[in-house]
Amino acid sequence: MLERTVQIVSNERSTDAYYRLVVRAPEIAPLIQPGQFAHVRIAPLKDALLRRPFSIFQVQGDTFSILYKTVGKGTEALSRMRPGDELSVIAPLGHGFTVPQPGAETPLLVAGGYGMAAMYLLAQRSPQKGIVFVGGRRRVDILCEAEFQSLGWQVRATTEDGSHGEKGLVTQPLLEEIRNPQSAIRHPKLFACGPTPMLKAVGQIAEEYKVPAELSMDEHMCCGVGVCLTCVIPIKSGDDWEYQRTCSEGPVFDAKDVAWEGVK
Ligand SMILES: Cc1cc2nc3c(=O)[nH]c(=O)nc-3n(C[C@H](O)[C@H](O)[C@H](O)COP(=O)(O)OP(=O)(O)OC[C@H]3O[C@@H](n4cnc5c(N)ncnc54)[C@H](O)[C@@H]3O)c2cc1C
Ligand code: FES
Repeated sequence: MLERTVQIVSNERSTDAYYRLVVRAPEIAPLIQPGQFAHVRIAPLKDALLRRPFSIFQVQGDTFSILYKTVGKGTEALSRMRPGDELSVIAPLGHGFTVPQPGAETPLLVAGGYGMAAMYLLAQRSPQKGIVFVGGRRRVDILCEAEFQSLGWQVRATTEDGSHGEKGLVTQPLLEEIRNPQSAIRHPKLFACGPTPMLKAVGQIAEEYKVPAELSMDEHMCCGVGVCLTCVIPIKSGDDWEYQRTCSEGPVFDAKDVAWEGVK
């Protein structure tokens, strides 16, 4: 984990409310593992001391990028920043996904909206190619399909309004695949990132069909480095449970360890 002032290389609108930000960070880029995040201080904000967490999307040479949705004042201010502007970032942070070993399980990735950002490096670095199930409310919420396809992955998109791919929830085609006796997928393992209800549904599917799963939990964060305890979630421990920090023990947890009855 490093704290560095980095320069913006580009910050462009991707679709609708989604932007791609590329920063030059030669010391950070080589350290990044799939599923890790950056904690970004957005200087133009009045409460700039409060950083915002974003999954690291892609790494290229001495740069890394994030894919973000404008939802509030921090991300709005970020979307107005220009190439050459500076940001303070702490990265890479958190415990990411386990990259499959050669010849081991076949990854099935499940992403909701900007959850797709956490998946790209895993897809790129996994020796086995699998299927990416991506869901969103509308067509504009389905991000970077073509980039996953160009890595050789199959992409199955769902939208709630039916404007792209299959109509419905992302868990429907996932269930069809897992239940299909003719499926070509051998030894599946699920990796998911998205809104909490989606993660919970993936966790239930994993439990019911006895498929291993890793979930990247989306909790509000303040410090991002394990000090403030804003981001804790209940994790099973023997017959009991304990709070663990999403920013440092997570954001990725084994699905069977999450004590869902205590998750908000
Ligand atoms: C580990 C992690 C990785 C993330 N990766 C990405 C990413 O790759 N791309 C991306 O666009 N966003 C990502 N987020 C969410 C992102 O951090 C928030 O959207 C951002 O902090 C909002 O800042 P803001 O100032 O614009 O919004 P605020 O003004 O602070 O809030 C605006 C709205 O956004 C909601 N919000 C704030 N934080 C979150 C959150 N963590 N999850 C869901 N809703 C939130 C608030 O409840 C409120 O409704 C990630 C969050 C975490 C914890
Ligand atoms: S955000 Fe402060 S402990 Fe996790």
